[in-house]
Amino acid sequence: MSEAHETIVVLDFGSQYTQLIARRIRDAGVYCEILPYHVEPSEIESRDPRGVILSGGPDSVFGADSPHPHDAVYGASMPLLGICYGMQLMAHKLGGNVQASADRQYGPATLEVLSESQILHGMPVNSQVWMSHGDNIEELPSGFQIVGRAAGAIAACENPERRRYGVQFHPEVVHTAEGDTILRNFLFEICECRGDWTVRSFIDAAVERIGSQVKEGQVLCGLSGGVDSTVAAMLVRRAVGDRLTCVFVDNGLLRKNEFEAVLQAFDEQLDLNIVGVDAAERFLSRLEGVVDPELKRKTIGEEFIRVFEEQGSPEQDFRYLVQGTLYPDVIESISVKGPSAVIKSHHNVGGLPEEMDLELIEPLRELFKDEVRRVGRALKIPDSLLQRHPFPGPGLAIRILGEVDAERLRILREADSIVLAEIRRAGLYTEVWQAFAVLLPVQTVGVMGDDRTYENVAAVRIVDSVDGMTADWVKVPYEVLAAISSRIVNEVPGINRVVYDISSKPPSTIEWE
Ligand code: XMP
Repeated sequence: MSEAHETIVVLDFGSQYTQLIARRIRDAGVYCEILPYHVEPSEIESRDPRGVILSGGPDSVFGADSPHPHDAVYGASMPLLGICYGMQLMAHKLGGNVQASADRQYGPATLEVLSESQILHGMPVNSQVWMSHGDNIEELPSGFQIVGRAAGAIAACENPERRRYGVQFHPEVVHTAEGDTILRNFLFEICECRGDWTVRSFIDAAVERIGSQVKEGQVLCGLSGGVDSTVAAMLVRRAVGDRLTCVFVDNGLLRKNEFEAVLQAFDEQLDLNIVGVDAAERFLSRLEGVVDPELKRKTIGEEFIRVFEEQGSPEQDFRYLVQGTLYPDVIESISVKGPSAVIKSHHNVGGLPEEMDLELIEPLRELFKDEVRRVGRALKIPDSLLQRHPFPGPGLAIRILGEVDAERLRILREADSIVLAEIRRAGLYTEVWQAFAVLLPVQTVGVMGDDRTYENVAAVRIVDSVDGMTADWVKVPYEVLAAISSRIVNEVPGINRVVYDISSKPPSTIEWE
């Protein structure tokens, strides 16, 4: 993909904002990839980037374990932009004087533009920026000039001759008023990009690439009913036509009536060859006694593959499996800090068994979720399908904390369908990223009529997000929460208490397991 597009590489030094940098760049129409800071120079060169951005990060350049890129990065011929930690690294490595400081603080500050510059071109003299005060740059390397100051510190510098630029603040966050101007200066003036990353160009390149990957045999696509696998299937269908068969597996972990509803919607609205497979019992028996969240995910991921492998007659000869893996899944699975920092193994990536007979096709590996929706629209997938809330591959299993069994599934399904019905009734379904119920392994005392009850607690989770990487809990009107709560407690035997989850991501995740 990258070879077909102008590409910017972001080297990730562990900043919480690294993905935001990539998103801003893509929103400007330029393809961008995030690589861990320690990649070999050949990895960077293979992308033939127009420019490289060194991200921020939580460390001091003087820390014993602080991340340093390969030295060749500093000597590269293409333009470099260092952000926060990235700027300090560049100043330190290229011969400037950087002083260690004990702590790092974030906050708003006023940037003063000191002189005409390439990186700050077109900015007003004073504007608000989101500073990150870490180590202090006392003196810049030779050839660099200070072009902006903020909070008493060097805040922007450049060496136009060598095309090296640095900002001490975060241009990618909205609190930096002119952040887009700075990124656009870097992309379009300094790196001379034209902006060729469009939905059309993505679709054309993806269809061509799938066509060349699929040589002999047929292709299987596991549909989940969600946006990602639907869009992936439609792309593959364009590339290989009738050689694609889609399978929608009832793993027993779907929402209420979902199996039938999804099969029907797909049948009516999309020109795909779909087979429904009822595998509920085998999934549930594999999950017996499984409590650990990672083991649940792995068990389900493996069982999916076994079901897929059994599909087809000998003459169908399935050789490929389509997965709707997205870019955030890829990044989370190759965390900058190494595999130990992987948060969850999403079944799309980490949960796959090592041994499988099918070769993967992952046409969305480079996309963020909102980009997938745009591709879906261009492929003429109806909005009713594109607007469906994300639903995790392991389904309700990761929303039943503790062991999963038929009775707990029944309880959660009922509660979940009430949450969705009330959110729809309030006109909020398309306004929020996800709304669902979670069944806790906790029982509490209640009273129903004259009787004491000792039943389960359900948590309601409703979040807003752009791409699932960060999320905020939604300030749902009290009346809607009240309706959800009273309906669940009255209509779902087995639940006598409802709580609302008021945690953001980070530090919590959206799903509870
Ligand atoms: P977390 O819980 O990591 O979830 O904050 C982020 C988003 O990803 C969805 N999710 C999954 N999707 N397979 C999927 O296809 C999975 O295993 C999986 N786990 C989480 C989750 O619903 C949220 O939208």
